[in-house]
This record gives sequence, C-alpha cells and structure tokens, in this order.
Amino acid sequence: MDLDHWTPDEKAQLAAMRLTPAAINIDPSNRVAALPEAAQLGKLLFNDPRFSRNGAVSCASCHHPDRQFQDGLPRAQGLSEGVRRTMPVVDVTAGPWFFWDGRKDSLWAQALGPLEDQKEHGSNRLHDAHLVQEHYRTGYEALFGPVPDLGKLPQNASPLGTEAEKAAWQKLDSQARTDISRVFANMGKALAAYEATLRFGDSRVDQYIDGISKNDPKLLAALTPAEKTGLHLFLGKAQCATCHTGPLLTDHQFHNAAVPPSDPRHADQGRAAAIQKVLTDEFNCMGPFSDTKPDQCGELRFIAKDDPHMLGAFKTPGLRNVALRPPYMHAGQFATLADVMRHYSKPPNAVVGTSELKTLDLSETEQQDLIALLHALSGPIIEMPPAQ
Ligand code: HEC
Ligand code: HEC
Repeated sequence: MDLDHWTPDEKAQLAAMRLTPAAINIDPSNRVAALPEAAQLGKLLFNDPRFSRNGAVSCASCHHPDRQFQDGLPRAQGLSEGVRRTMPVVDVTAGPWFFWDGRKDSLWAQALGPLEDQKEHGSNRLHDAHLVQEHYRTGYEALFGPVPDLGKLPQNASPLGTEAEKAAWQKLDSQARTDISRVFANMGKALAAYEATLRFGDSRVDQYIDGISKNDPKLLAALTPAEKTGLHLFLGKAQCATCHTGPLLTDHQFHNAAVPPSDPRHADQGRAAAIQKVLTDEFNCMGPFSDTKPDQCGELRFIAKDDPHMLGAFKTPGLRNVALRPPYMHAGQFATLADVMRHYSKPPNAVVGTSELKTLDLSETEQQDLIALLHALSGPIIEMPPAQ
C-alpha cells in the first residue's frame, strides 16, 4: 500500500488539519482581546499569586508554562483538589464554549471562574479589585479608564464567596457592586488577551500535510511509515476525525465518549448540567459586562437546551501536544495514551448518558500506530501577538 496515497476527500480533511497561525478569533464581547497592552497586563495577572486566599495560587500554578500550561495531575490542585483535570490554555480562542462542560461562553468570562472558585484561587472580586487598584492601576486605566473609588469599601466581598463575603456583598449598594464586577470582568478581558497570544507551532504532521499539497518528497518524509499508517486509521477505520477535526483536532463540540466517572457516587453530568449555568451567568455574552450587543450572541441565544446527548458529554479536547501532557480525559481517568487507545478499541457502556463510540476492535499494532501519530502532533508553544 502506498502510504502517501490519499483520496480527494482525505486530502481535503488533511488540508483542514494544517495549523494556520493567522487563524485567531477575535472575541467581539472583549474589546481589548487583540491589544498587546492588554496581553501584557494579562500576563502579569496570570502569574500573580496575590489573587488567591492563601497568596500562593496563580493561574500559572495549574497552567504551568513548563508543563504545557497544565499541571500533569489527574485532578487540579488549588486550595484543595478539584473534580476535573486542568485544560491547556494554548490556542483557546476558537471557542465558542469553555471548560470541559462549556459553562462559560467567552475566554474572559472563563477566567473569572477560578478566581472565585473555593477549590482554586478562593479569592473574591472586591479583594481582586483592591489589588488591581494598588498594583496595576496604570496598566488598567490605560485600557479601561479610571478604577472606581474603592476607598470606603471593605477588603472582601463577593456574591459567590464565603458566608462573610456574601454578607458584605449584600450590604453594598448596586452601583458599588456594578463597579466592582466591572473591574473584575476587565481583569478577565486582560487575561483573555494574554491567553490569545499562546499558540501552537507546527508539528511534523503539518510538514507532512504540506508535503501532500506540494508533492514534495522531503516533506513527505516528515512522518515514519507507522505514523502515516496511524494517520490513515485516524481518518479511516478508527473514525477519530469525526470529532477530532480541524487545525486543533477538535470540533469544539460536546460528546459522550463513555469515559468512566472518577467518582461514580457523584458522576459528572458534563454538558447537561452546564447549559443553565451559562444562560444565567452575569458575565455571559448578553450580560451587562459584555462589549457586544445581545443580538450578536448567536451561540448563546440558540443554545440546544434539551438535547439528551449532552448528558455525560464533554468538550472534545484538541490533540496538539497531547503526548506531552498526560494524564488524559476530563478527570485524568487514563494515565497513558495506551490506556486511551484500549478504551477506544473496546469502549464500555457509558455510566452516565449514552455513549457515541462504536467498538473498533483495533489490533495491538493499529493502537501503536495511532499512538505514534499522536506523538507526531507535538510542536513548540509560541507566544505570538494576536495581530500576527
Ligand atoms: C487549581 C488549578 C487551576 C487554577 C488556579 C486555574 N485553573 Fe484554569 N482550569 C483548571 C481546571 C481544572 C479546568 C477545567 C475545569 C472544568 O472544566 O470544570 C481549567 C480550565 C481552564 C480554561 C478552559 C480551556 C478550555 O479549552 O475550555 C481556561 C482558559 C483556563 N482554565 C484559564 C485559567 C485562568 C486564566 C486562570 C487564572 C485566573 C486559571 N485558569 C486558574 C485548573 C485551574
Ligand atoms: C464521538 C467523538 C469522538 C471520537 C470519535 C473520538 N474522540 Fe477522542 N475524545 C472525545 C471526547 C469528548 C474526549 C474527552 C472525553 C472525556 O474526557 O470524557 C476525547 C478525548 C481524547 C483524548 C484525551 C485527550 C485529553 O487531553 O485528555 C485522546 C488522546 C483522544 N480523544 C484521541 C482519540 C482518538 C485517537 C480517536 C480515534 C480512535 C478518538 N479520540 C475518537 C471525542 C471523540
């Protein structure tokens, strides 16, 4: 079999998998999304552990630059252990949904979640607004205008925090609440601008795809025969590309892949439990802190509310650099890619909802070839200004 022979259909699929550095989605709900000054501020916030209850947790604690912007743990460890695995924050602008269950509809709204999550930063928005005023005033005001006067307000208050923080929040007047939440939302917008600069660079699979389009023998040699066989399986018999498609190897949608829950007593409902959350989130695209008009929020307005397939469904993860960041799945259920391949070869019935996977019965060699292909999807991570 000529491993470099591809049908026209497969050639089109491969061309769509080619990484295109220019393809970055500018989020209309964040007017600073593409500003280098916002990315600069966001990078400082990302690495600053003061935005946490114990002064020790920053975004970078879990999204560590030396660990593929992840932490290598099955479940994230902030103030305490969470229930899901840390996701990579590289090439995340393609959206439309964020978190494993998509309970946020923008990158900036996503960033606000961990800050007030009691298991992660355990911070609160008034504390964070004070810190911005104290340490980041110049950078903040150049982007967003004056920081409101917080002088007479207490140190801590939030609608989501501890009982004392919630009580303090109740005592604030509505103008103060809006002002604080706006500073908080703007922090998220700067963080999102920074995350938008983190991009994947070419892998050997990209070189090979160029080899096909240019018919260049040197580039066609970028993959070994085993990796090419893996690529044929990925598009063909194993049907991985039905969900893992496009330049990041994800359709950005939610699927039930029958991954056993890490805690069967509290089985994770996935997407099904997230729809109400994103619809009622004050920081969503239609909310008061979004920079877009409500009628531009198509994804949110036309969200599928009663789709039974969303029970136990999680966002398809991208597969770039996947071999460099075990463990795998939404709660780190699988330690290695070999475990992942055994799962796909003979998937169990889903514990929650209905599985979309078919039994593939892949031979040992076929599983090895697919793993080889996944390794060939590794490349550098580059910090690149969004304008490029
Ligand atoms: C305690 C560890 C921890 C900290 C701290 C943390 N994260 Fe995360 N991050 C996670 C976990 C776990 C998930 C997935 C959670 C889920 O789906 O419920 C995640 C998901 C994300 C995602 C979603 C990616 C996607 O593809 O949907 C982004 C973006 C992100 N984090 C950015 C941040 C930013 C910005 C901060 C700082 C404000 C931060 N994280 C702080 C653990 C952490
Ligand atoms: C029906 C859609 C679908 C198909 C088909 C599919 N996947 Fe997945 N894949 C997913 C989803 C959804 C997850 C996350 C599931 C979870 O955590 O519960 C996932 C997770 C993964 C992961 C773990 C990545 C990570 O960061 O945790 C790998 C590796 C992977 N898939 C590879 C493959 C390969 C190889 C194939 C073909 C044999 C394949 N997938 C077929 C949807 C799919």
